[in-house]
Amino acid sequence: MESPFKVDILKGKVALLTGGGSGIGFEIATQFGKHGASVTIMGRRKHVLDSAVAALQSHGIRAVGFEGDVRKREDAIRVLESTVSHFGRLDILVNNAAGNFLVNAEDLSPNGFRTVIDIDSVGTFTMCHEALKYLKKGGPGRGPASGGTILNISATLHYTASWYQIHVSAAKAAVDSITRSLALEWGTDYGIRVNGIAPGPIEDTVGARKLAPDEITIKARDYKPLYKMGEKWDIAMAALYLASDAGKYINGTTLVVDGGDWLNQPRQMPKEAVKELSRVVEKRSREAPVGVAKSKI
Ligand code: HXC
Repeated sequence: MESPFKVDILKGKVALLTGGGSGIGFEIATQFGKHGASVTIMGRRKHVLDSAVAALQSHGIRAVGFEGDVRKREDAIRVLESTVSHFGRLDILVNNAAGNFLVNAEDLSPNGFRTVIDIDSVGTFTMCHEALKYLKKGGPGRGPASGGTILNISATLHYTASWYQIHVSAAKAAVDSITRSLALEWGTDYGIRVNGIAPGPIEDTVGARKLAPDEITIKARDYKPLYKMGEKWDIAMAALYLASDAGKYINGTTLVVDGGDWLNQPRQMPKEAVKELSRVVEKRSREAPVGVAKSKI
């Protein structure tokens, strides 16, 4: 789909995306690039990065890939340094790298729990922490109150509770908390905006393959708003909105992009039945209002 945004809304900006070699991260990198940004993608697998960079460059996007694991502080430092020495600055950090697998809480080892916290929560903080010195300077021609911006890719599963994802729920709750705390501290001190995006189920992603097998999503058809999977494009458009000047007054928000999916509730009764029942209940309550003594009727 064509983007509704002007093609130059990120002109001159430099973005670094963790987990940018595939899935949602790659789509955000592509759309940022198509809207004028130069992009660095960071990931653990060289062959994935190489083909992603080639694909980005084939669109005329200035792109480079650096290997690194967000769990390693030295990798974070190196990739940030390499980005700034390659492109001269950093304006946008997207913390997209994440880990996930379905598991019963009772079968999850503390190390399995820690692994996802390390990638999602500690990794996000590490990247933010090491990026600060670049983001707070803003860039050439920018005012003192205009630092860079951070986007943290989150989820909605911790808004209520989620089966078989205790580790990810905890990790993403921490990510949202990091988003708000940094929005407060760094928004105030450096004019850096920090926001998040919470995607719903997005087709053609590792997350969807791991977490939403067909038999589960088909069963939910009856009570899911806009019943359909989202597209990576939907997340990339939200990222463009938040990272560009369109979002210049948005700070500390995690934007849910899920078609209302997290609001789902099993339907209590069919629509026609509720009309019938409602009328009967109203009639009964008019005849004998609850809590009113018989003598007063
Ligand atoms: C139980 C498991 C497990 C599983 C790993 N572990 N997989 N436990 N069930 N299926 C445990 C291991 O036994 C080990 O604990 C610990 O986790 C670390 O496992 P490793 O394999 O050594 O970790 P590592 O190689 O670093 O791999 C990390 C990973 C992996 C998270 C396990 O899946 C990964 O690299 N994922 C990155 C890609 C990814 O998943 N992307 C999806 C993002 S989707 P012990 O105790 O044995 O040592 C997403 C959506 C979120 O984030 C929102 C959803 C709504």
